[in-house]
Amino acid sequence: MKLRTIDNVDVRGKYVLLRDDFNVQIVDGQITDAFRIAQSMPTIEKLRARGARVVIVAHLGRPRGERNMEFSLKPVAEYMNIPLIPDCLDKDFLGTMADGDVVLLENVRFYPGEEKNDPEFAARLADGYDIFVNDAFAVSHRAHASTVGVAKILPSYAGDLLASEIRHLDAVMANPARPLLAIVAGSKISTKIDVLRALVKLADRVIVGGALGTTFNYALGDRVGDSLYEPDQADTAREIIELARQNNCDLMLPLDKGVAKEFKRDAVRTNKDFDQIADDDVIIDAGVATTARNVDAIKTAATVIWNGTVGMAEWTPTWSQGTFAIADAMAEQTRAGKLTSVVGGGDTVAALYASGTADDMTYVSTGGGAFLEFIEGRDLPGIAILAEK
Ligand code: 3PG
Repeated sequence: MKLRTIDNVDVRGKYVLLRDDFNVQIVDGQITDAFRIAQSMPTIEKLRARGARVVIVAHLGRPRGERNMEFSLKPVAEYMNIPLIPDCLDKDFLGTMADGDVVLLENVRFYPGEEKNDPEFAARLADGYDIFVNDAFAVSHRAHASTVGVAKILPSYAGDLLASEIRHLDAVMANPARPLLAIVAGSKISTKIDVLRALVKLADRVIVGGALGTTFNYALGDRVGDSLYEPDQADTAREIIELARQNNCDLMLPLDKGVAKEFKRDAVRTNKDFDQIADDDVIIDAGVATTARNVDAIKTAATVIWNGTVGMAEWTPTWSQGTFAIADAMAEQTRAGKLTSVVGGGDTVAALYASGTADDMTYVSTGGGAFLEFIEGRDLPGIAILAEK
């Protein structure tokens, strides 16, 4: 898809409404993962350097149309050292801006019109601006006022981050080097059904792991103890197993697990095959045999697409073993020039940084849900509207 970009647009002295995705993790007022902010900086700097008056619109969390200060973007404005405009519909400050200034508007999801893509709200938001630039790939699967509504009103363009996401993901998805291995894990199968359906048709091999993988094991009658899984999704898991078989996709399920008697960071780890799992065991990580099998699969793949951690990777080092082994193997193969590696999703990207492998991957996406929908082959509304006619 060819997008309208900001390359040849004269932005000097123009009021640019820039959509960024700053939906970052904040703990006790501190940003714990600034990856999305860092990736957004080149476009901000480019617009600033070209003399634009840059007003960033963004969201944090799901305040559901209410002004709930728990979801304030204040920590982001402080982190970026730019002013925060307390109301995203305020226009008074525009007259005080000089060329090259950058400010951040307070959470656009404080208004119910945002998620409803209410045309009247979009018109109020767009008022006062000359140009709209969308650099928020991670929220472009949402048809909201700040992604689609304003793009219908203002001359609109893709920012550099958004254009780069599409370029890289298009390149991998259109013609992947094979064997193509997809690794899909995380906590819920219910959020990944569609991507799994798409991937078993596309990939040569699919590894499923994490609690999502446990649901598959449960569906096949394995013992899963007192673990996190979704019993009501057993039919879906069986349907995906059948779909994989029909498409000659090698669906690789967990073989064994790292378990404990309590779901706690400092719990004692034991490795168990499924037939050894007791009713009071809790699965917290991939097992030793599963991890060795996963590493082998990575070593024989030419492309790996990865979304979702296979254990509580943030509970290092006991429970990050399965996830870090995937990250390390992908990093090693990519460094050796043998693998194209593409990773997306907040927890997965955090695991890359925690394991020191982020810089080794071919491409790390800022998208979570948007990354999955793109891989499924869906049109993302915030991007479709920026396509060159
Ligand atoms: C994300 O974090 O994936 C995006 O910001 C979208 O957030 P949402 O799922 O709350 O719409």
